[in-house]
Amino acid sequence: MNVHDSEKVVGTLIQEGYQQVQTVDQADLILYNTCSIRDKAEQKVFHRLADFKKLQAKGKKFGVLGCVAQQEGEKIFERAPHVSLVCGSASYNKLPEMLVQLEGKLGETAREIPRARGESEALPDDGSVLTSAPNARGPVLGPRDLVRITGLDDRQTDKCFETEFTARTNPHRGYITIIEGCDKFCAYCVVPFTRGKERSRASESVLNEARQMADLGYTEIQLLGQNVNSYCDPAETKSFAELLVAVGEVPGIRRVRFTTSHPRDFGRDIVCAIDAVPALCDHVHLPVQSGSTRILDAMQRLYNREQYLERISWMKSAKREISITTDVIVGFPGETDADFAETLDLLEQVGYDSVFSFKYSPRPNTPALGLEDAIPEAEKSRRLEILMAKQREIQVARYKKYIGTECEVMVEGHNDAREQWIGRTSHNKTLNFTAPESGSLAIGSYVNVLVTGSFPNSLLGKMVV
Ligand code: 5AD
Ligand code: SF4
Repeated sequence: MNVHDSEKVVGTLIQEGYQQVQTVDQADLILYNTCSIRDKAEQKVFHRLADFKKLQAKGKKFGVLGCVAQQEGEKIFERAPHVSLVCGSASYNKLPEMLVQLEGKLGETAREIPRARGESEALPDDGSVLTSAPNARGPVLGPRDLVRITGLDDRQTDKCFETEFTARTNPHRGYITIIEGCDKFCAYCVVPFTRGKERSRASESVLNEARQMADLGYTEIQLLGQNVNSYCDPAETKSFAELLVAVGEVPGIRRVRFTTSHPRDFGRDIVCAIDAVPALCDHVHLPVQSGSTRILDAMQRLYNREQYLERISWMKSAKREISITTDVIVGFPGETDADFAETLDLLEQVGYDSVFSFKYSPRPNTPALGLEDAIPEAEKSRRLEILMAKQREIQVARYKKYIGTECEVMVEGHNDAREQWIGRTSHNKTLNFTAPESGSLAIGSYVNVLVTGSFPNSLLGKMVV
């Protein structure tokens, strides 16, 4: 979600006449997009901002975007006084206006904003967005201190961050947001506080974006939302499953993925849609968080172990084998050895292809902060290691089963050192493979590969000619 937010912010600013640059040295303004899902991510933000401080002497300006901006607000100015602008995840629409204001405060006279659409360039992969204004008079953002602008007052907004000017970084596979915010309030989660309430985009607007992307040559679309299954078309025309089908039927689109699903809202109609439309990828990410009904209750997840397993059984009875992945939190307050054992047992029962596992991290404002029976860090680490070792065993066995089968992959790149192509299957697995004529495959093309070997996280194969 954050990567895509950065793409939208970059596109919006390019449209306003700013220019994205590739290095910190070249930038007049450094916008840092942030995540506050766990404490570690948040701490990283403040360390990085401290690193940026020495650049202030060179006249560079700093802005903080995203969930840490939303959560910490003006406190960011106290902890990092060299920051001039704080813009939360629900306020991106205001960013161009805020920048004009910032430039005004910096004492510049009004400038003409060029309207020409700029070329997008690859984003730096550390979450920072670097822009400088293209202006014959030199950098618009000149050195001056004590310029502070926030855009945090509209967390309760009804609007989505819709922009025609998304600077997508990959020309073959791209994200489309279908729903923003979240109304679930899981006890551990900061997202409803940082991204505001749920608001869905009109299905027609989503479909228009999908058609435009197809016209530009995209073949894979990933529909995004904190909880895509609670998608509610404002025009009341399409359910989430119907939207999936419609996107899957856009001419030119060969693969559609969606993330993230919530078990409470995950309907059987989604499995029927995957069965009916070949373009819908046979992969579902369905976060379980815990295998213990007692802990799921404490987490306010709104489903129990049996209901979760029922959804798994729908997927297991699909016509195509659906690859299932999940998120797990270990060490939620009150989690006993017996609760944890239930999670391990659930991993075995489901047979996930991948698990993202996290130690519980207390977050500001969340209901779980008030819970007793905190689990010591060392015990959380111990459980995490056990869980990861168990999942590794499961994956070794699951990935082995693909040996001897043929899979279609989208070509994503080439590993020169290994002389292998890198591909991705519809199941969302990495499949590294050799091709008869090295160098002849186009990135973004689709080829068939025979699987000849497996590892815990990837497959090995050779191209079928
Ligand atoms: N502590 C640990 N993990 C968390 N997640 C969300 N909030 C927390 C937290 N406070 C995990 C959940 C979620 C994923 C995106 O991050 O597993 O599904
Ligand atoms: Fe957070 Fe729960 Fe919403 Fe997911 S569904 S974003 S875990 S509150």
